[in-house]
Amino acid sequence: MTSGKAKLKRSGMIFSQVPFLPSTKEQTLNVIKLLEGRKGYLADLGSGDGRLVFAASSMGFRCTGFEINSILLAYSRSKAWWRGVPHTDIHFVKQDFWKVSFIRICISSILH
Ligand SMILES: C[S@@+](CC[C@H](N)C(=O)[O-])C[C@H]1O[C@@H](n2cnc3c(N)ncnc32)[C@H](O)[C@@H]1O
Repeated sequence: MTSGKAKLKRSGMIFSQVPFLPSTKEQTLNVIKLLEGRKGYLADLGSGDGRLVFAASSMGFRCTGFEINSILLAYSRSKAWWRGVPHTDIHFVKQDFWKVSFIRICISSILH
């Protein structure tokens, strides 16, 4: 019998107290399908390596990824930098998503 933690170590990555289980290609495509025909602003709560944020951004969404894991955050930010994505299009924030003020997000999204 394999423990839950051992399964997580195989299928995802544990850099900190919380596991990183990235979306599969299929799951990412499902998100893209859900976003088709829509536009605006997307917040990814627990953005991991930013794959959903980058997918949504490629469809014209302005995005913020909230992530508490510093390594994943640095990776996402450097990916955005390498791709030359403007800060106004993609924004990665080191913040516990349970403490995010969604009223502020809505207001700042209206103002941008
Ligand atoms: C299942 S992974 C999903 C990553 C990404 N959204 C994707 O679809 O590939 C969940 C992510 O949420 C982050 N996370 C977990 N709890 C969090 C919290 N309270 N605040 C911010 N990020 C959190 C983890 O570090 C991890 O990267």
